[in-house]
Amino acid sequence: MDSMFNVHLILLHIITFLTLVQQVLSADFQFEACKPKTCGNGSIIIKYPFWIQEDYCGQPGFGVTCKDNDPILHTSGYDYIIREIDYENKSFRVENPVLQDKECPVPFQNSTFSDQTPFKTGFNVRELSFHYNCSNYQPGRFGYFVYPVTSSCAKSSSDDKLVSFAILLFTPPKDFVMDPLIICQSLARVPIEMEAEPSLGPDGQDKDYMLLLKKGLTLGWDRISCTGCEESGGYCGFDKSSIFVCFCNDQPHYESCNGASVTPIAPVAVDKPTAHGMSFST
Ligand SMILES: *[C@@H]1O[C@H](CO)[C@@H](O)[C@H](O)[C@H]1NC(C)=O
Ligand SMILES: *[C@@H]1O[C@H](CO)[C@@H](O)[C@H](O)[C@H]1NC(C)=O
Ligand SMILES: *[C@@H]1O[C@H](CO)[C@@H](O)[C@H](O)[C@H]1NC(C)=O
Ligand SMILES: *[C@@H]1O[C@H](CO)[C@@H](O)[C@H](O)[C@H]1NC(C)=O
Repeated sequence: MDSMFNVHLILLHIITFLTLVQQVLSADFQFEACKPKTCGNGSIIIKYPFWIQEDYCGQPGFGVTCKDNDPILHTSGYDYIIREIDYENKSFRVENPVLQDKECPVPFQNSTFSDQTPFKTGFNVRELSFHYNCSNYQPGRFGYFVYPVTSSCAKSSSDDKLVSFAILLFTPPKDFVMDPLIICQSLARVPIEMEAEPSLGPDGQDKDYMLLLKKGLTLGWDRISCTGCEESGGYCGFDKSSIFVCFCNDQPHYESCNGASVTPIAPVAVDKPTAHGMSFST
């Protein structure tokens, strides 16, 4: 009986050892998948609530793709370039991609973050309203905040009298009424951010709307914080029933790697009761 007990004890040790080896060698695949990433050589870390490949690593609406070394956020308007993410303050800064277009740095599409996205814009967001190929335009009619749009891609080459320009709209932009005499062929509005009144040039006009676009736009989010999970060595995400989980090296846990584990995974769960059963039977 004694030797039988020893054999069981040795077996138990071997099984425990093998289980440990298995746990160390095979880190949870979701843990692997949700490790923070960058786009190529880029310096911006992409992690929860953002995600690149696996949507369970982040929140809906926070999916990004990589273009060259930049993370790109897709919206119903533009595919914005993410320039900065501040995970601590839950905010990020995006830039309108038209700025990268050397030939034609002019927006032709509407873009808004107010409705369908999970992001909040700051209170200092205004809109730049671009009006293309307009007739009867008279300079000075709108006061100060009109910006000439002179790129050749933005205006008619055949009709010199057609003019393109951008107006800075103060909130609420809905209330803006265009001079009915001015007839334009197309219109596009994009959000911009302003810390203060626009700076005016010597003749009362800020000459370059590009300067406004270049500041980019800061967006905020307020979803579940990942701090507890990250501090315990895990990565946040969601399980199949959209419940918030913390993916840890061994398996997913609730809240943090120190929390209760989500449905245990087969090898670990099966080996342990068997080993216990054997030692109890002696
Ligand atoms: C990464 O950066 C190095 C130099 O900084 C550059 O030579 C290389 O092409 C870059 N790789 C990618 C994928 O952009
Ligand atoms: C977060 O915001 C606070 C103030 O709102 C600021 O002092 C701090 O620098 C910000 N953190 C980062 C990393 O920018
Ligand atoms: C942008 O939205 C305005 C209405 O706010 C609409 O009149 C205009 O046609 C839209 N422009 C484009 C390019 O879709
Ligand atoms: C302006 O007019 C020209 C020629 O009529 C046209 O090719 C161009 O697409 C128009 N631009 C916009 C933004 O409507």
